[in-house]
Amino acid sequence: MEFLDSFKSELEVVSPGRINLIGEHTDYNMGYVLPTAIEKNITFNFQKNGTTDTCSVYSKTFDTGFEFNLKEVARSEVEWRNYILGVVNEIQKRTNRLQGFDCILESNLPTGSGLSSSAALECGLAFGLNELFNLGLTKLEMVQLSQTAEHTYAGTQCGIMDQFASVMSKEGHVILLDCQSLESNYIPINLYPYKIILLNTKVSHNLATSEYNVRKKECEEGVEIIQRKYPKVRSLRDVTPEILDACKMDLPEVIYKRCSFIIAENKRVLDMTEHLKKNELERVGKLLYEAHEGISSFYEVSCPESDFLVEFSKKYDTVLGARQTGGGFGGCTLNIVHQNGVEAFIKEAFAAYKSKFDIELEPFEVKPTGGTSAKELV
Ligand code: GLA
Repeated sequence: MEFLDSFKSELEVVSPGRINLIGEHTDYNMGYVLPTAIEKNITFNFQKNGTTDTCSVYSKTFDTGFEFNLKEVARSEVEWRNYILGVVNEIQKRTNRLQGFDCILESNLPTGSGLSSSAALECGLAFGLNELFNLGLTKLEMVQLSQTAEHTYAGTQCGIMDQFASVMSKEGHVILLDCQSLESNYIPINLYPYKIILLNTKVSHNLATSEYNVRKKECEEGVEIIQRKYPKVRSLRDVTPEILDACKMDLPEVIYKRCSFIIAENKRVLDMTEHLKKNELERVGKLLYEAHEGISSFYEVSCPESDFLVEFSKKYDTVLGARQTGGGFGGCTLNIVHQNGVEAFIKEAFAAYKSKFDIELEPFEVKPTGGTSAKELV
């Protein structure tokens, strides 16, 4: 692309991916989540190009880019462009103050791995444009407009967790986020002598977007049926196990399973928070296994690859717990592994996975880190 030869960065933004310790699919059900950013991220470099409306974005990682005009920010057939275009569109709607800019991206965050590379892309862009053009958007506004961009341009009816985690995280902590009130608390996480090891299944079944939206609808259907008996219920957040029980006969079996997972998962987030505070690591691990069971059998967003790895981990005394993290249908499993057992676990999981699925597993350690940050360069 033409602009690359004379590019002079004015601003660098680093925008991280995230893991979610527990609380899957609870965000769009107004429940609790417990995510944190990780040290895998996308780096953005920006310059204003002096035009009123010509913009270029280039990805070094994928050696591909595109140009667009601020006057016509339409959806694209090319998936990743929609994260960019969607954010630009939302910012323009709110401010109408963008001008021509060029942006170079570089990522070490595996895409399609359930670590929210899409949120990192959206939020990093929002953060950068906010700085570059002094738009005065708050962090929460950037989080929310990025989430809206994902609804309108990328087509996933996602909750707020990923964008919130990417922007708001704090080193050494997970965020206990109440997705109803958006109240958040930083919970210190110290797992020593255990480590958080991710195993990237390297599969991301293409059911992910469509089934995600189906799950959201199923939960809404559950709420509608429950409201007939309990009109005060606004979301699954308001549904206690007793209420669910009283409505069991009214709910189709699948809907009942979805609702019971969400209700149990919300409780697990709160329990996990207590276990972290008291350093009850065995219990932390046990909750992960319970959550995976729910993800797989009740919410049905797992896949054979993730199930295999979680099951495999149970053979190891050095592994306290494991589950698939993120939206589902592949991505990474999150494992809490004793530091002395990491090497053997990774090696043996790699071999077992290779022989079962003929795929080379990608294992790596992650540490809770801070959210999106910017550095002015001129
Ligand atoms: C995706 C979505 C999030 C959340 C998770 C599941 O990552 O973007 O909003 O719903 O799935 O917990």
